[in-house]
Amino acid sequence: MAAIESVLQEKRVFPPSEAFAKQANIKGMDAYLALCKEAEQDYEGFWARHAREQLTWHKPFTQVLDESNAPFYRWFADGMLNASYNCLDRHLSTQPDKTAIIFEADDGKVTRVSYRELYRRVCQFANGLKSLKIRKGDRVVIYMPMSIEAIVAMQACARIGATHSVVFGGFSSKSLHERITDAGACAVITADEQMRGGRAIPLKPAVDEALGMGGCESVKTVVVYKRTGANVAWHAARDIWWHDLVNGQADTCEPEWVEAEHPLFLLYTSGSTGKPKGVQHSTGGYLLQAILTMRWVFDYKPSDIFWCTADVGWVTGHTYIAYGPLAVGATEIVFEGVPTYPDAGRFWKMIQDHKVTVFYTAPTAIRSLIKAGADLPKKYDLSSLRILGTVGEPINPEAWMWYYETVGNKRCPIVDTWWQTETGGHMITPLPGATPLKPGSCTFPLPGIMADIVDETGQSVEKGKGGFLVIKRPWPSMIRTIWGDPERFKKSYYPSDFGGKYYLAGDGANRDMDGYFWIVGRIDDVLNVSGHRLGTMEIESALVANPLVAEAAVVGRPHEVKGEAVVAFVVLKGPRPSGEEAQKVANQLREWVGKEIGPIAKPDEIRFGDNLPKTRSGKIMRRLLRSIARGEEITQDVSTLENPAILEQLKQPVQ
Ligand code: WT7
Repeated sequence: MAAIESVLQEKRVFPPSEAFAKQANIKGMDAYLALCKEAEQDYEGFWARHAREQLTWHKPFTQVLDESNAPFYRWFADGMLNASYNCLDRHLSTQPDKTAIIFEADDGKVTRVSYRELYRRVCQFANGLKSLKIRKGDRVVIYMPMSIEAIVAMQACARIGATHSVVFGGFSSKSLHERITDAGACAVITADEQMRGGRAIPLKPAVDEALGMGGCESVKTVVVYKRTGANVAWHAARDIWWHDLVNGQADTCEPEWVEAEHPLFLLYTSGSTGKPKGVQHSTGGYLLQAILTMRWVFDYKPSDIFWCTADVGWVTGHTYIAYGPLAVGATEIVFEGVPTYPDAGRFWKMIQDHKVTVFYTAPTAIRSLIKAGADLPKKYDLSSLRILGTVGEPINPEAWMWYYETVGNKRCPIVDTWWQTETGGHMITPLPGATPLKPGSCTFPLPGIMADIVDETGQSVEKGKGGFLVIKRPWPSMIRTIWGDPERFKKSYYPSDFGGKYYLAGDGANRDMDGYFWIVGRIDDVLNVSGHRLGTMEIESALVANPLVAEAAVVGRPHEVKGEAVVAFVVLKGPRPSGEEAQKVANQLREWVGKEIGPIAKPDEIRFGDNLPKTRSGKIMRRLLRSIARGEEITQDVSTLENPAILEQLKQPVQ
């Protein structure tokens, strides 16, 4: 808890410069407070006004918020629109030749597409999907590298009303299989390989493997984009090349008008059980907040060059690459590679080369780049930058100060945006032309977002205190349900302990005496490793699926660069290994988890015991394991422990 106290004592405050505030879309705290007041006085009117102003509706809505089946809230339910139309068609008359995407490949090759060209490619691919008999409501899994084609695939699904589910290319065939079957996908869109840091990583073989695991009978087609030209196995009855599919397709495609509540996408994320949750998002409400936050938080101006470094496999890549920037008509960067290739100056060089104005990345990337070369940014001309952003985990004040001073040259406001896969868009974040910044705080909720911090009984806590982060009113871009499991949706986010009234974010938070929000981290069994969300139970299930393993418990431990590291305590079916044998088995298990879930989930450390610390009723005492993993003195009461001797064993790292 020392870290929390230290940030709560953070005294430095950085108000926006007068010049910045003057040109901003939201000019100053008064303007922010006026919007908050509007939302408080007429909540539905506030959202309805923005939905009318920001979205192009095929059929206007007359209902705003429908709470009749809470917590399954509906927004703008009788309105009809199309997300792809809102991202592409509506720019065709005003700015067809503006660059929509500047794509930079891993090897540095740059490709630009205009709005007209992107529209043409999306329409052609959408017609291709239709020729495969893919229709409104069908689920399509996308397992692609960062590419123009990944965005074309997403937009094309949206155009025909198919619900996409993007699976991060770093996930294993097993994780892919789990998502394909859960979603009941009718098609998978992939590439032969992806390029990252000069290395080719196969994608199509993982799809073949996933589909070979059984239970994927719903999948009729696999569309394969040729990225590297590598040899791939081919199933003629099922597989089709991207270029063959679009060849000869018409370059216009009438959008499928869908209800505002129509599921635009599913995105799987980790929860506190072993099974990932298919977070279902809407079309209208989701797109509304993608647009509003582009304008409010990123202060979008038509002259911006916007760069969000996330992968489209995460929600950040959905809202701030595939939809938000296009919906406002921005020019954005799409980057295939990694921040450290060919060297740790890659991000800074790209900002210089493309004259990036708004740069949005993760604290873990910032920390790793500080380590790799704290002075490197000074070698590049970063004067085009005007706003910096972070997302994914709390940023420590030291990393914040470096970002502010060395990258932003003390000129650029930092927007530390708190949100989640489930929230669809930013929720608690500074507004760059209004909010006085405090390093490490995500500051205040956006207008219309009724965030609060409550105790176990659901009562608001006073300023200066901590508790559970909740959102007290439904908001347009919120999760609609968990695909195929509405009960789990209710139990996870509207648990009865809190009266079932508030959305429970799953984060602990504090509010300081000035009312600033400080996110502490997850309160459930979810880890945040390099900004990626991992369920401890998921990793445990992967470990016990190994024939050597009898039992496993996984906890997090603070990590300088990754935020959190994964520590696994393992009991083997055979005797507890030691020395070289222990090392060998530990490596084997790490690789195993990499194959089961994906490389991001590999434990940083594995320790072996004859047993795990359990209460007499058989419950694993994770609190103790957390202390052991951190190398802390055990101060907790161990009197309920069935087997206290085990603690000494687990304190021993594998050497
Ligand atoms: C969890 C959500 C939202 C896109 C990326 C992650 C943590 C996210 C912040 C922030 C402190 C943050 C929370 C949250 N988180 N942003 N600015 N400050 N913590 O999406 O995978 O759904 O993870 O990430 O713990 O609950 P996600």
